[in-house]
Amino acid sequence: MSLAEQFRLDDQVALVTGAASGLGVQFAEAMAEAGAHVVLADTNAEGLERTAQLVRALDREVLVLATDVTDEEQVGAAFARTGAHFGRLDVLFNNAGIADPAPRLLHEYPTDVWRSVLAVDLEGVFLCAREALKLMVDQGSGKIVNVASMWGLAGSSSLFPAPAYNAAKGAVVNLTRELGLQYATRGIQINALCPGFHATNLGDHDEAVTAAIEAFVPMGRIADAAEIKGPALFLASAASSYMTGQTLVVDGGCLAK
Ligand code: NAI
Repeated sequence: MSLAEQFRLDDQVALVTGAASGLGVQFAEAMAEAGAHVVLADTNAEGLERTAQLVRALDREVLVLATDVTDEEQVGAAFARTGAHFGRLDVLFNNAGIADPAPRLLHEYPTDVWRSVLAVDLEGVFLCAREALKLMVDQGSGKIVNVASMWGLAGSSSLFPAPAYNAAKGAVVNLTRELGLQYATRGIQINALCPGFHATNLGDHDEAVTAAIEAFVPMGRIADAAEIKGPALFLASAASSYMTGQTLVVDGGCLAK
C-alpha cells in the first residue's frame, strides 16, 4: 500500500456521533473526502441535515440517524441500522459531547449537572463503543476514535473550572487505553483524540475568555475547526495501523508547557 493509499477509506463506513455541529462536521467531511460512506448521529436534526448535504456533495452515501447517545435503546437501534444498511462499520468517531454548563468549583457543583455531563461525555462513549465493537469484533477489523480533550490529561482551572468535563474526559482517555488492550489482537484499534481549543459551539467563549485562551495557547490562537481533520484521518485510517490505546493531542502546544 502506498503512503497515499494508507490515508484512503474508499467504500469504508464511518459513523460520527455529534455530527450536527463543530468537530463532528469536520470528522464527517474528512471521512467522506477520504472515500468513506458516513453515518451521522446527533440529537439536532437540522444540523444533521446540513452535514448530510456536505457528505452527499462529495458523492458518498449518507445515513442520518437522530440519536441521543445517552439513550441505550436509541444507541442500540442506530448501530443495528448501520449494520443492516451497510453490513459493516469500519470507523467510529465517538464525538458527541457537552461542556460543564457554567464554571463552578466543586463545592458549589449540583449533582444533576454532574450526572448530565458524565451521561453524554462518558456513558455515551461507553454505549457507542460497545455497540460498535459488536459489529467490529464480528468483522475482525475497525477503528474507534474517542474524542476526549486536552482536559482529559490536565486540570482546566488555570483558565476555568470544569470538574465534570475533566473527570469524564480523563475517564475516556483511560477507557481508551483499556479498550486498546482488550481488542489489540482482534484487528481493532482504539485511540483517543485530544483537541485543545477549536472554534465550535462548545468552544464559543466571550471576549474576555477568548483573550485569556489566546494568551494561554503557545501558538497564540484558537484553532479553526477544520484543523482537526488531518489528525482525525490519521487515526481513522491504515496510516495508524500500529497504534492503539494511545492519545493524540492537538492543542497548539498547551500541554507541552
Ligand atoms: P459542539 O457543541 O459544536 O458539537 C457537539 C455536538 O454533539 C452537537 O451537535 C450536539 O448536538 C451533539 N450532542 C450533544 N449531546 C448529545 C447527545 N446526548 N446525543 C447525541 N449528540 C449530542 O462541540 P464540539 O466542539 O464540536 O465538540 C465535539 C467533541 O469535541 C466533544 O466531545 C468535545 O468535548 C470535544 N472537544 C472539543 C473542543 C473544542 O475546543 N471545540 C476541545 C476539546 C474537546
